[in-house]
Amino acid sequence: MKVYQSLTEHMLTVNMLLSVFFLPGDLTDYCYGGKPALNLTTPNNMEALTGSCLEIPCTYETDYATYDSSKTIYGVWLKGGAYFGANSRVIFHSSGSVNNYSLDLIGNLKEKNCTTLFPNLTTKHIDKYFFRVENGGYKATACADPLQITVKDSPWSPSINVPSDLKEHQSVTITCSAFTPCPHSPPELTWTLQQDSLRQTEENTDGTFTSKIQENITLSDTHDGYNICCSARYPVIGGSKTAGTEMTLSVSYAPRNTSASISPSGLVSAGRRVELSCSSRAKPPPRFTWFRNSKHGTFKVSVEKIYNFSVTDGGEFHCVAINHLGQQKSPVILVAIKDNRSSEFQILHILKILGIVLLCISIISFECWFRFSKKPKKETEEPTYVNSVMATTAS
Ligand SMILES: *[C@@H]1O[C@H](CO)[C@@H](O)[C@H](O)[C@H]1NC(C)=O
Ligand SMILES: *[C@@H]1O[C@H](CO)[C@@H](O)[C@H](O)[C@H]1NC(C)=O
Ligand SMILES: *[C@@H]1O[C@H](CO)[C@@H](O)[C@H](O)[C@H]1NC(C)=O
Ligand SMILES: *[C@@H]1O[C@H](CO)[C@@H](O)[C@H](O)[C@H]1NC(C)=O
Ligand SMILES: *[C@@H]1O[C@H](CO)[C@@H](O)[C@H](O)[C@H]1NC(C)=O
Ligand SMILES: *[C@@H]1O[C@H](CO)[C@@H](O)[C@H](O)[C@H]1NC(C)=O
Ligand SMILES: *[C@@H]1O[C@H](CO)[C@@H](O)[C@H](O)[C@H]1NC(C)=O
Repeated sequence: MKVYQSLTEHMLTVNMLLSVFFLPGDLTDYCYGGKPALNLTTPNNMEALTGSCLEIPCTYETDYATYDSSKTIYGVWLKGGAYFGANSRVIFHSSGSVNNYSLDLIGNLKEKNCTTLFPNLTTKHIDKYFFRVENGGYKATACADPLQITVKDSPWSPSINVPSDLKEHQSVTITCSAFTPCPHSPPELTWTLQQDSLRQTEENTDGTFTSKIQENITLSDTHDGYNICCSARYPVIGGSKTAGTEMTLSVSYAPRNTSASISPSGLVSAGRRVELSCSSRAKPPPRFTWFRNSKHGTFKVSVEKIYNFSVTDGGEFHCVAINHLGQQKSPVILVAIKDNRSSEFQILHILKILGIVLLCISIISFECWFRFSKKPKKETEEPTYVNSVMATTAS
């Protein structure tokens, strides 16, 4: 303890000497290349939106014996200047003596919390800032921890977060989150997923904030290719500023709508080539296997999408589409061949019918002949009759 204190005193003396001789300006205290007397924990770089506010998360550390938290602690913000900022100027003093940018030190200095709110940011705020603590005899600037403030005119696009490697049936949380430099008026988030998703504004580990909406969805194949659009509307003085982002879901799924087709369709003559084609919807694209179903079982005949073969006899076929998520069987298709024996059979049939027809014709012919053989007697009488009449008329 004693050693420590004497060391501290020694350092302070050295610091003062250095300050006097080498460091003019406002950052005269301890801003040399040695051990800083005040360490600030704040993001090195903060972005803000014009017309909105900026909350700077800030805590500090000091271990110098002269720091006494029972005495009034003042927080001071300095603007501009470089690392040893000779031209930095005080813009805020928590005593109330200076406050050029309406800053609000909302942290509790007794808890070494120097969180500060910058309202209504403009491009005039773009600069480097330093924080200083004054406490009785202690006065230290965190010159090794400058804060750069950048002010943008257009807002940040929100980011959409989905787990990688999406699969059907999986339940996932999809999040749209937006950078929130001003947690007092966070951006309003809307997206194409669900209208009334609840917005939450959460503090990150570094003290900055993020607004987000999220939804849990159970994925199906219909989500593949689905476009999610998310927009963030930032309230600013006199209106709002909006930025959007979109992403497309890529969901893997097992084969669906597996079907088999045959070309040419209809009856095929033996010896001809037919092409069996299998199709299926799957992600990633499936592998195909063709099977022939017979009385003796089912046999694998091809591992291609298209199975080309010469028909020897008909049969039943089906295909199966497979990817790492599953498989699906197509309906069975029939390869039917034009049987030559059956055409002989048909000719035989025709011959039979022809025979019957011929038989009928013969019968009819016979009957006609039979009747005809009777008629001549009548006909020989008639001319006689006519002749006799004619004879009588003549006479
Ligand atoms: C500040 O940080 C430096 C480097 O991390 C460290 O050596 C020093 O002890 C710290 N000082 C205080 C006051 O915490
Ligand atoms: C802060 O405001 C005072 C007057 O209110 C002015 O004299 C001073 O120059 C200003 N400082 C800066 C850094 O703008
Ligand atoms: C500092 O104060 C702010 C404002 O009151 C608070 O939001 C934040 O959580 C505090 N930080 C720590 C580290 O206590
Ligand atoms: C915000 O800053 C602009 C530019 O300095 C100023 O014109 C405007 O009046 C300010 N608005 C509020 C509400 O402070
Ligand atoms: C989504 O799921 C997570 C964990 O599975 C759960 O903590 C959260 O409350 C769910 N959110 C909604 C909106 O259902
Ligand atoms: C594909 O299969 C699904 C069921 O898995 C069905 O609802 C849909 O109508 C099928 N689509 C086509 C084009 O056959
Ligand atoms: C199948 O056979 C036909 C005719 O022999 C040919 O034109 C076609 O390219 C073949 N297809 C495949 C995938 O081998």
